[in-house]
Amino acid sequence: MSHSAHPAGPSHGYPLPSVEPMAPPDLTVLNRRVWSANVERRAGELTVAGLPVTALAAEHGTPAFVLDTDDLRGRAGAYVEAFEGGDVYYAGKAFLCTAVAALLAEEGLGIDVCTAGELAIALRAGVDPERLALHGNNKSVAELRLALEAGVGRIVLDSQVEIDRLAELAAETGVRPKVLIRVTVGVEAHTHAFIATAHEDQKFGFSLASGQAADAVARVLSHSALRLVGLHSHIGSQIFDTSGFEVAAHRVVGLLAQIRDEHGIELPEIDLGGGQGIAYVEGDDPQPAADVAARLHEIVRRECALAGLAVPRLSVEPGRAIIGPSMLTLYEVGTVKPIELDGGLVRNYVSVDGGMSDNIRTALYDADYTVVLANRLSDAAAQLSRVVGKHCESGDIVVRDCWLPADVAPGDLLAVAATGAYCYAMASNYNRIPRPPVVAVGTARAGGTVSAGSAASAGPTASAGPTASAGPAASAEVIVRRETLEQLMANDVGWNGAAQRLPGAARVVG
Ligand code: LLP
Repeated sequence: MSHSAHPAGPSHGYPLPSVEPMAPPDLTVLNRRVWSANVERRAGELTVAGLPVTALAAEHGTPAFVLDTDDLRGRAGAYVEAFEGGDVYYAGKAFLCTAVAALLAEEGLGIDVCTAGELAIALRAGVDPERLALHGNNKSVAELRLALEAGVGRIVLDSQVEIDRLAELAAETGVRPKVLIRVTVGVEAHTHAFIATAHEDQKFGFSLASGQAADAVARVLSHSALRLVGLHSHIGSQIFDTSGFEVAAHRVVGLLAQIRDEHGIELPEIDLGGGQGIAYVEGDDPQPAADVAARLHEIVRRECALAGLAVPRLSVEPGRAIIGPSMLTLYEVGTVKPIELDGGLVRNYVSVDGGMSDNIRTALYDADYTVVLANRLSDAAAQLSRVVGKHCESGDIVVRDCWLPADVAPGDLLAVAATGAYCYAMASNYNRIPRPPVVAVGTARAGGTVSAGSAASAGPTASAGPTASAGPAASAEVIVRRETLEQLMANDVGWNGAAQRLPGAARVVG
């Protein structure tokens, strides 16, 4: 990489749109694949389950994540139904908070956790520990101990070191955990290199090709303190093509047969991980859960029949496909700056009040998002735009290339679709920005659905009358509060712990 300075071109590193792109004919049309089920425009304004975004923004501020709870419940239910006879573990890394964990558990999902923090949230939400699976390539002794003490249902083993470590802890605590072995099946998932996980040269799992996986099986079986129940494979994330999962299933079943031949046991479970893709933009075409499940069941049944094995219980761990489409992010526009590009093209830089601290995915993976003007309709011409944040670096981009009405102005609200997965979860306090809240909107909440009268909302919350579908009225409820400047400074104790007593702190936080 060259580190020398040179005169800047117009688009450093990123190509300009190669041809003058065609603007979509109608910027007010919502692509149903991208937006959650209960997002629609009413009187020009975007609404979630009937609640106008202006009311949500007025009450909860911006930026804010808005969760369409009925949509979430629907999608979670569809996964459970599609994988009936097996288990659906929601991958908590995509987004985890107490309310969502409780709602998903109620829908019948288990939860995949991979740290003490995620485990603590799931337990706090009242999820049955037996319905939890613990993952991770470097679980600490403390995390493993915590899992054993809590009675976590499955521990997915990732290294030889860990096998021995867990066996020792199991013997010590007298808990005999059910374990799976994570197998690296050697599949190239066609996704971003940072989120592909089953090729050989990466940190996760035991390689099938090199024989490490078979060695791991023998090692686990040599420890009477461990109960080997199955094999696990996760090939990557944001995958549309099921062929990768099919190859993985084929290879995992092959190992099941090898284990039967070498050890005389048939393991009862396989978990094919997560990774099912979702639609972020127009061209994305994800498969419904039922289709994914049908293909996976079919291949596992076929491979087992060929190998003369009983069909094992089949589990999956979708994260993005459960929560991703159910959330949007609401931002307020602060500034609009037209930038002239080569060839006379102009791009509006539309700055919003969040950015890479609430959505790092664009900067990190070059992710694409769909954005719309949310608080009103505009009949202005479509203008090539880039939605950027308020952080102090030029890579702070929320939506790289999009079309917005040319009259987008300070004070307008923008909504970015499908931000449920890996946005809040990967949020930071970069530039000391407090994390946004998560506001759940809908009729569904954990503990049963609420009716119009009993809508359990916190405070004087916006609510909508019965919608066209004539269900109960929707309400909005903060399920994760916005961080405060006070919280941001809570751990910053200063010299001799004196920082909190300094007058400046009080001046800022009021
Ligand atoms: N199971 C295991 C073992 C995993 O490592 C993951 C994701 C999942 C399940 C869930 O995958 P999903 O269904 O959500 O694709 N930060 C990246 C994604 C990293 C995924 C890590 N592991 C992103 O923003 O795209």
